[in-house]
Amino acid sequence: MPRYDKFNPDQAGELRRMVIDNIEKKKAEQAKSPPQKLHILSILSGKGGVGKSNIAAALSFALADFGKRVVLIDADLGMANLDILCGVRNARYNIAHLIEGSRSLSEILVHFKTSERATSLNGAVSLLPGGYGIKEIADLDELAMERLFDALSGLEELSDYLIMDAGAGIHKGVLSFAYASEITLLITTPEPTSIRDAYGVIKSLGTSAWQAEGNAASGLMLIVNMASSSREAQEVAERIRLASMQFLGNAPVYLGYVLKDDIINRSVKNCRIFYRTDPESSAGICVRNLAGDLIRICDGTDFKRKELPGEKKGVRGFFSRLAKSLFSESDNT
Ligand SMILES: Nc1ncnc2c1ncn2[C@@H]1O[C@H](COP(=O)(O)OP(=O)(O)OP(=O)(O)O)[C@@H](O)[C@H]1O
Ligand SMILES: [Mg+2]
Repeated sequence: MPRYDKFNPDQAGELRRMVIDNIEKKKAEQAKSPPQKLHILSILSGKGGVGKSNIAAALSFALADFGKRVVLIDADLGMANLDILCGVRNARYNIAHLIEGSRSLSEILVHFKTSERATSLNGAVSLLPGGYGIKEIADLDELAMERLFDALSGLEELSDYLIMDAGAGIHKGVLSFAYASEITLLITTPEPTSIRDAYGVIKSLGTSAWQAEGNAASGLMLIVNMASSSREAQEVAERIRLASMQFLGNAPVYLGYVLKDDIINRSVKNCRIFYRTDPESSAGICVRNLAGDLIRICDGTDFKRKELPGEKKGVRGFFSRLAKSLFSESDNT
């Protein structure tokens, strides 16, 4: 007698119900917390002119060399200039057009050609131009804000890393990006003024910038730019970390350094990103090291995402936290 004849139809129904229940349960869990593979990073500094924009752009192309898809967002609310730095002439649209609803995300994004290496690995870099407009999120009603967040959620499909060039200083327009991001890269140079201002940012951020105990790596990280040697960079980082540990009880992780290199000045003058034209320059190699270490940290098994307030995750979560922080009553300027 075939085996299925022995099968009790009641049992089969029960099994089917259990399988369906399991699928429904999984679906509900996924809807509550969709798997998040996108990493959201803000790049900021205390003092201006320390190399944030150059590092943001170069790091994006270096990540693409490792096969990552990156969207670079010009989030400097004071002085948005990444489009010029990246050699994009006449970027026609920016985030303001997305906010007013006159353009879609795909019309605003500027796509760059990446190197041969990146192409073979499917890496990609796109730019979302212009900081103007981000401040205007404040004036949106709930419906318009939801529409904007919906449009920005499209970034989730397009990228593995969202890198924001968030400007300098300790005002809300800068610090809010650190509050809302998963990772903050704080840039300093070896100059005493820059070191002091970097410490000022750490102090202003308070505890919210750090990951819960044991996971500091995924919160706040230091990059020393324009260093004359790796040793000098290490010393600068240690000074900041020591002061931070002594007075604030926690310290940012030292991610790495970029050497002082004239190639950067020359590339800026020609509206080029040095990493694209000279990836093997000393600054280029440093940035590639930073990208590799960042990926190792983010993809590593002991990397835990920073616990961020609010239920929403991913891009939507980031922008709603950002809006909330930008427009909260308290102002720490
Ligand atoms: N590693 C480096 N070596 C030499 N020059 C550098 C280096 N990094 C940046 N620079 C120079 O520093 C200047 C400022 O760089 P950049 O615009 O990236 O700084 P920023 O922090 O974004 O400035 P801002 O605060 O005004 O937005 C540029 O002229 C650039 O050429
Ligand atoms: Mg800049």
